[in-house]
Amino acid sequence: MNAMSPFSFELKKVQEICTKHKVAMVQAGPYHKCPKCAVEFLEEEKRNAQAEVDRMVRVKHFAGAQLPERHAESGFKNYNVKHEGQRNALKHTVSYAQNILAGHKNNLVMVGPTGTGKTHLSCATAQTLLKNGKYARYITSEELAQRIMNAWDQPDATEKSVIYDFTQYDLLILDEYGLHDRDKRRELVHKVLYARYDRMKPTMLISNMTIEELKTDLGDRLWSRLQHGYLTVVECNWMDQRVGGVA
Ligand SMILES: Nc1ncnc2c1ncn2[C@@H]1O[C@H](COP(=O)(O)OP(=O)(O)OP(=O)(O)O)[C@@H](O)[C@H]1O
Ligand SMILES: [Mg+2]
Ligand SMILES: [Zn+2]
Repeated sequence: MNAMSPFSFELKKVQEICTKHKVAMVQAGPYHKCPKCAVEFLEEEKRNAQAEVDRMVRVKHFAGAQLPERHAESGFKNYNVKHEGQRNALKHTVSYAQNILAGHKNNLVMVGPTGTGKTHLSCATAQTLLKNGKYARYITSEELAQRIMNAWDQPDATEKSVIYDFTQYDLLILDEYGLHDRDKRRELVHKVLYARYDRMKPTMLISNMTIEELKTDLGDRLWSRLQHGYLTVVECNWMDQRVGGVA
């Protein structure tokens, strides 16, 4: 490092030697200072400021994903594997995350009864992508429909603009699909799925429906589009983990 200390020119050298750098200190006001220590101090300050900016960017990046608070700590590492079904679900979601990081554009459908860890694994996938700089977004089907409907009354957003916003993410996790109450809501959710298909953006679709029910609910056209390339299907058919089930 060749940088000159801001003290080098004007300040008088004193007898004292910096024990760290073995150079003569200078008189700086009432103090004796080492010019090299001063440069190091400024560089450290710069590094700290940059680290703080990086941290804030990271916080914003993760906040943008809107993962549910309850799943803030849900990762692949703390997903317990007690049987073949869970081993399979973990394996498929891990490789799905890796494939997206590698640039693949495929979709994943995860179905199963309540409390079987579907949202946990989807958040683990999101965390993996976020850590690697990708944009993931979590939303329930109900909330997505509501978002689009809200745009109808807003001067600065349109249905199209909200749908477009949801095509921007590298991965959209659409959770609790099928809990929406009316046909109109379903149609809006389908519009987002079509839009993501058109823009070749991967979607993770999660539902309590069976695969057969899901196929019927999505309709042939959309089901066929979801399968474009390769569709990973994960079926979580075991007992509710919230009540301690293992089988
Ligand atoms: N294999 C597992 N290892 C560790 N925790 C798990 C596992 N499976 C489920 N859990 C935990 O159990 C709780 C319920 O799981 P989760 O919310 O992912 O279920 P779900 O399948 O999304 O249910 P629902 O269909 O009702 O939304 C969560 O706190 C989750 O972290
Ligand atoms: Mg869930
Ligand atoms: Zn020094």
